[in-house]
Amino acid sequence: MGNCFGARSKVDNTLSSHPTSGSTKVTARISHSYTSSSPTVPAYNNNKKSESVPSPRSEGDILSSPNLKPFTFSELKNATRNFRPDSLIGEGGFGYVYKGWLDEQTLSAARPGCGIVVAVKKLKPEGFQGHKEWLSEVNYLGQLQHQNLVKLIGYCLDGDNRLLVYEYMPKGSLENHLFRRGAQPLSWATRMKVAIGAARGLTFLHDSEQQVIYRDFKASNILLDTDFNAKLSDFGLAKAGPTGDLSHVSTQVMGTHGYAAPEYIATGRLTAKCDVYSFGVVLLELLSGRRAVDKTKSGVEQYLVDWAKPYLGNRRKLFRIMDTKLEGQYPQKAAFTAAILAARCISDAKFRPQMSEVLAALQQLPFTKHSGSPSRAGHKSASSPMAKSPLRQKYSSTVNDTDISRGRIRSSQMKSPFMRSPRGG
Ligand SMILES: Nc1ncnc2c1ncn2[C@@H]1O[C@H](COP(=O)(O)OP(=O)(O)OP(=O)(O)O)[C@@H](O)[C@H]1O
Ligand SMILES: [Mg+2]
Repeated sequence: MGNCFGARSKVDNTLSSHPTSGSTKVTARISHSYTSSSPTVPAYNNNKKSESVPSPRSEGDILSSPNLKPFTFSELKNATRNFRPDSLIGEGGFGYVYKGWLDEQTLSAARPGCGIVVAVKKLKPEGFQGHKEWLSEVNYLGQLQHQNLVKLIGYCLDGDNRLLVYEYMPKGSLENHLFRRGAQPLSWATRMKVAIGAARGLTFLHDSEQQVIYRDFKASNILLDTDFNAKLSDFGLAKAGPTGDLSHVSTQVMGTHGYAAPEYIATGRLTAKCDVYSFGVVLLELLSGRRAVDKTKSGVEQYLVDWAKPYLGNRRKLFRIMDTKLEGQYPQKAAFTAAILAARCISDAKFRPQMSEVLAALQQLPFTKHSGSPSRAGHKSASSPMAKSPLRQKYSSTVNDTDISRGRIRSSQMKSPFMRSPRGG
């Protein structure tokens, strides 16, 4: 969720950025932009296209979702053992995330080790923008349910306290696995499984009747269950897509530095293709093991997109950007296809594929160095049809360095003084 809530709402007609404790959010208000006061989402559609055009919902409607349990603050205090430091499992800009326990039947607080484990996110008390993002999360996750979206169990609105209660994701975030010092390196098969799960989540959002644009796709928002199934979390910045003849929605620019699409940062015009760009950045992180932005590096190496782009269309040079932690244990052809796909995702918006196309392409990739079969991949549940696809041939034969160079990601934009240094950078 967002991490510059209070400050964000004060920005007006200027580009601005705010110091944060966690990863960096980009915030900017464009003079010709508008921000809708109430988020709209399609009705819960469980993988099917929704039938009706959604309408804005009141706070009361959002909070009365039959899918969500309202908790009192003292219930969540008990569930997390009074938010004890040893229950802490993470921190983001939104606040702290604690492990808690609930009775499986009643969802009342349970003793540690009894009942179901949950993750309780506690908002830092930082004003209107925080409440707005908290409400947006309740709105979207109260209605949208899918195997690749994290399940929201309930919420707490108690005085100034704002909390969210999620299913617990035992393997934490992709960010931790890729970048935390000492983390066990992820295999190629696992990386591709995570990419497929996350792509499926985004495809689901984009394919709803009124497409939902996620707007905050990044490694820290991809959570993993015990089998490395990926689920998207944090819908605080999600936005209903354009309706009617409109090609985009105009918004206050919000997102995370290094992941946000350059044309969105420049214009405030949000489309589903902005999510595709962010997906391309995460795919590059999976291939290279490098952060989207790393301020400990110098020059072009600080920005993953700028650094990796020249290598993506060159089969012989690709190894130079591949994660050395893979120790060469990946199918080279599949890595090249994935690199070409990433290049298309970060290219100029009109050349970017739809998420459904990205998903189909990823599902064609072999999982291991020596096998095209997912059954030999070491992760049984990673389903991926291995039949040769016309898509795959298309990527290999039609996308080249010229296509990649069309992605006009200008360093000047990405290094704007209005951007800030991200976590780990
Ligand atoms: N449902 C969950 N299950 C397990 N761990 C979780 C869960 N939700 C969050 N976490 C952990 O808490 C960390 C912080 O999450 P949070 O969403 O607050 O911030 P973030 O995504 O890291 O940063 P940002 O505020 O920029 O979105 C995550 O990176 C993850 O490790
Ligand atoms: Mg998050």
